[in-house]
Amino acid sequence: MSRITGRTKVCGIIGDPVEHSMSPAMQNAAFQELGLDYVYLPFRVGRDDLEKAIEGVRALGIVGLNVTIPHKVAVIPFLDKLDPLAEEIGAVNTIVNSGGSLAGYNTDATGFLQALIERGIEPEGKKVVVLGAGGASRGICFILAQNGARLTLLNRTLERAQELARRVAGETGREVKALALNEANVTEALRTADILVNTTSAGMSPRADETPVPAKLLKKDLAVFDIVYNPVQTRLLREAEAAGARTINGVDMLVWQGVEAFSLWTGRDAPVEIMKREAMRALRRED
Ligand SMILES: NC(=O)c1ccc[n+]([C@@H]2O[C@H](COP(=O)([O-])OP(=O)(O)OC[C@H]3O[C@@H](n4cnc5c(N)ncnc54)[C@H](OP(=O)(O)O)[C@@H]3O)[C@@H](O)[C@H]2O)c1
Repeated sequence: MSRITGRTKVCGIIGDPVEHSMSPAMQNAAFQELGLDYVYLPFRVGRDDLEKAIEGVRALGIVGLNVTIPHKVAVIPFLDKLDPLAEEIGAVNTIVNSGGSLAGYNTDATGFLQALIERGIEPEGKKVVVLGAGGASRGICFILAQNGARLTLLNRTLERAQELARRVAGETGREVKALALNEANVTEALRTADILVNTTSAGMSPRADETPVPAKLLKKDLAVFDIVYNPVQTRLLREAEAAGARTINGVDMLVWQGVEAFSLWTGRDAPVEIMKREAMRALRRED
């Protein structure tokens, strides 16, 4: 870090925990690749310290921030403005500091969309089955509905699916079906689906032997996006690939949210391949 000078611009991530974040490796490699005088640091911030941490961003002139669990919703009252998409979703994962004025964005959602588009999959008119109604599902459902997808949302706790479906439908004016996550409903929903998105934590390490969908329901003409990134190749993705389906893994979403945050902070196009490589390296170190 000998390259740091008095002019170096500081970005970072706040969350609790942040120790396992791949963003420092990914963003610092990107700054370096483009020869930008920026550095990206992890800041562990507990719930009770969030407001003080955001004041600190202004006081210290930190130019950009990622926000992760548990602060994505709680941070909103402390910001000066919100990008319309972040406002609709009700969650922020990226902050841009322009001379002390803090603007909140949601690049989790736009990053998810970009990962789909990169694989040549446009949501417009597609029937998309989303599993899970937690924090990550929110932005994904909004951006899919906004981009013309026909959504069916299934969740273990039906009430959460119904509540999210109501919110998304209310904000976007598009119909969203909500069902309980069980084999009968998944079977019916997947019969005519084009895209399956898993946003549940089923299959995430250390329960990597779990899958939210029986292998027999996976088929060739389906695109399967599992946002779980640890392991990169989840059981769901392995079984989808074996069924001949197109697959997209959670690292792609993670990288694209970082790519979009990088551009917001620097005004430059990010070196996507470098960021993918560093994210994979950081993941391997965590294993
Ligand atoms: N790739 C990326 O960039 C990215 C970004 C964000 C999150 N993620 C990953 O996405 C996953 C979810 O994150 P989150 O923040 O949305 O978590 P969350 O808010 O805790 O939500 C978890 C969701 O998973 C469901 N669930 C948990 N265990 C389940 C099981 N065994 N079977 C079926 N459903 C189950 C929950 O259902 P109930 O409502 O019934 O509890 C809920 O819908 C995590 O693995 C996380 O690492 C990836």
